Amino acid sequence: MQLELINKSTDKTKADILVSFMTKEDIEKNKEAKLLSQAGFKAEQDTLCFLHEKALLACGIEKLDAASIRSAAAAAVKALKSSNYTSAKTQLSDMRFVNALVEGFVLGGYDFNFYRSEPKKVALETIFLACEGANFAEFEAAFNEAMVVAQATCFTRDIVNKAPQEINPETLALLAKKLAFENSLECTILDEEGLKKENMNAMLAVGRASVHQSQLIHLSYKPANPKKIITLVGKGLTYDSGGLSLKAPTSMVTMKMDKAGACGVLGMIKAASELKLDIEVHVFIGAVENMVGGNAYKPDDVLVSRSKTTIEVRNTDAEGRLVLADVLDYAQEKVQADYIFDFATLTGACMVALGQYTTGVMGHSNALKHRFFDAANSSGELVGSLPFNNHLKKLLKSEIADISNVSSKPYGGAITAGLFLDKFIKEENKEKWLHFDIAGSAYTEAAWDCNVYGATGAGVRLMCSFMQNID
Ligand code: BES
Ligand code: ZN
Ligand code: ZN
Repeated sequence: MQLELINKSTDKTKADILVSFMTKEDIEKNKEAKLLSQAGFKAEQDTLCFLHEKALLACGIEKLDAASIRSAAAAAVKALKSSNYTSAKTQLSDMRFVNALVEGFVLGGYDFNFYRSEPKKVALETIFLACEGANFAEFEAAFNEAMVVAQATCFTRDIVNKAPQEINPETLALLAKKLAFENSLECTILDEEGLKKENMNAMLAVGRASVHQSQLIHLSYKPANPKKIITLVGKGLTYDSGGLSLKAPTSMVTMKMDKAGACGVLGMIKAASELKLDIEVHVFIGAVENMVGGNAYKPDDVLVSRSKTTIEVRNTDAEGRLVLADVLDYAQEKVQADYIFDFATLTGACMVALGQYTTGVMGHSNALKHRFFDAANSSGELVGSLPFNNHLKKLLKSEIADISNVSSKPYGGAITAGLFLDKFIKEENKEKWLHFDIAGSAYTEAAWDCNVYGATGAGVRLMCSFMQNID
């Protein structure tokens, strides 16, 4: 399915059906008001009404704002994809809704067909956004940018959705290399020999029982005169079985998504380079598989991390923070960035705290957090702040090492995980760093907003919005 912007009025645009977004108040103004009300259409959010004889699809919106349009567009594209229509059109006359329409149609219409012996049959070929007017060029620029971001989100979704027999640390590194080649990015990869030379013992311990070698992936996008330098760190657990602290069978299913942070930062750098942003972007990924085996790392092990901080392992399922500890340390030494952001499906506790739709943001700078609340508002992603405090920090104390990898108490698990990472952030970088826990928001087993079953691409739209607004 293609989305096309055209410089024509809706009347002059040839298509099988017109998609029209309307609030309850709009129904009576519509020339099909009678038929719509006869059909029982009340314009409730995400409800649809096909008037086939009038070639009209009415889509209910609660109010005329971007969030409502994004969600309704997603509902509309799903219905159109299971209809026999080959083309549809809708009117675009407000700059505020360019992103929402693109996201709703592209992300709501996303399908993952990689493992189907026969891809789903879809008649729908094109949705036209009819946009006539003197300022068409402005719309076109906004449309093209929104398409880059939406396609980067789909790129992220595709990798997360792939099965763990397909994506392991080695194949993820190959995929990153391919992206680097296609988008002219610099690329450095360390395999286990390289990780040993760097003393990345915490990361190495997590991957020890896997048949695949752990990989550290570093990609960079370096425009000529960057306004700022951003480091993006991603948790790339291509599978998280829990290790010897083995997950229960039902909790293990979906753990292919434990690489969503890594796939997210790949989508972000892809978008930054395609948007040709004036920002230098560095991506660092710890690609590791957490497995069981005779050589697996164990609860009771004490690891000497790259920063020399010693870590008592009390639960091998709290592995993401061990990988990130070493990758964050490495990233801070390699690049003096203005901002450091890490993305990780880090804790089930984040979902308990904020619900499964919201990304948890943690860090020391309230000002920086606020910039992400703005980015969340304009991108349509949901972000909530989880505040640090020293009482929770004390719960990470270990009797035998510098820090324990799990908290001694069962509450506030997302925050204690964030505080564990904080231990590896250098003093001069404290205000530059934010941690994003995407455990809930990265993957869904039921469609919501413009997300469909599977990976959502969480973080990509959010970070693109942040980067596009840097001045
Ligand atoms: N990858 C998981 C976190 C997770 C859970 C992501 C559910 C998405 C959905 C992480 O490695 C983990 O297992 N965390 C443990 C931490 C605990 C042992 C302190 C958790 O959340 O239970
Ligand atoms: Zn785990
Ligand atoms: Zn994990």
